[in-house]
Amino acid sequence: MTDEHPTRPNKNAHPRLEDLAGGVAIVTGGASGIGYALIEAAIAQGMHCVIADIETEAIRSAEDNLRAPANEAGVELLGYTVDVSSEESVVELADAVSSAFPDTPISLLCCNAGVGGGGGVLTARDIDWDFVIGVNVKGVANCVRTFVPKMLSQNANGAVVTTSSQDGICCAQGVYGVTKHACVALTEALYNEVQGALSVHVLCPNAVATNIVTSERNRPERYGGVAQGTPPSGTKPNPIAERFKAFGMAPSRCAEMVFDAIQSGEFYILAEAPDDPGYVYLEAQTRMEAILNKGLPSRPKSELLTKVFNLRIPLPDNE
Ligand SMILES: NC(=O)c1ccc[n+]([C@@H]2O[C@H](COP(=O)([O-])OP(=O)(O)OC[C@H]3O[C@@H](n4cnc5c(N)ncnc54)[C@H](O)[C@@H]3O)[C@@H](O)[C@H]2O)c1
Repeated sequence: MTDEHPTRPNKNAHPRLEDLAGGVAIVTGGASGIGYALIEAAIAQGMHCVIADIETEAIRSAEDNLRAPANEAGVELLGYTVDVSSEESVVELADAVSSAFPDTPISLLCCNAGVGGGGGVLTARDIDWDFVIGVNVKGVANCVRTFVPKMLSQNANGAVVTTSSQDGICCAQGVYGVTKHACVALTEALYNEVQGALSVHVLCPNAVATNIVTSERNRPERYGGVAQGTPPSGTKPNPIAERFKAFGMAPSRCAEMVFDAIQSGEFYILAEAPDDPGYVYLEAQTRMEAILNKGLPSRPKSELLTKVFNLRIPLPDNE
């Protein structure tokens, strides 16, 4: 097989974390959830951090909260408002990073910004497809195209991590699932193209306790904008959002798994939730077996996702 694909690398660079220290970590969607946890972990590893996000207020509050640990670690923070679905905006981000850190290599690029929703493939409007593909797929492509050539030209150790989902490796559901499959595919293609010069990884988590359910708060104007009547984030209880927070795994656990994978060279990071162990693996296995055995698409039952989506199951405090 190897001879038929002479350009396919058979290694994933896995730099020691000490080698990434002192460099810059750029995390899109860094002001909330998994991205915020990745920034916290990168600070702890001694990297200067760029909190790149579409929500300016959330960036400011992240900067306030992270200033003390950053000072303690002796690293700098740069908060920058970006819309990853716009190539122009990502290029502006790159200029800001070059100005702030002119002589410092980019050690880590986390293409993590993403939005949930979009609906089913039968009901989603053209503009819904554009929104979710724009952020979840083109957002990753824009950042990869803008930053990876710079990272390759540095001749230094570096890692690229994209955030897909368990939805990216199991039988797909809805527009979101389609985009998360595309994110896995994009990351595999990137792995092939960098040929081992950088470490490449895709994070595929089960449900995480973040703000993903209220993603519509960030719908840019050209994708229809925030729908009239959408309450500002956090002002009106959203039962599913509450349940993600109550049952989902800690974002810090995802960050821990990402840094472990960078060191081990693991490409597919199956971020299993502690109370649903082995589920993401089982999803991947179920899909692959269906493909290989001429079966039909199906998803195994998840204890965690049942708790998250079944409103009849009481929240932990009420148990
Ligand atoms: N929470 C989960 O259960 C879960 C599970 C699997 C995968 N994911 C993925 O994890 C990633 C992070 O999401 P999260 O769960 O932390 O949710 P989150 O909403 O807490 O964080 C996402 C961040 O991305 C930012 N963002 C949204 N659109 C953007 C844009 N156009 N440009 C720049 N930034 C933008 C948001 O402002 C927010 O800060 C997403 O890609 C999501 O699809 C989440």
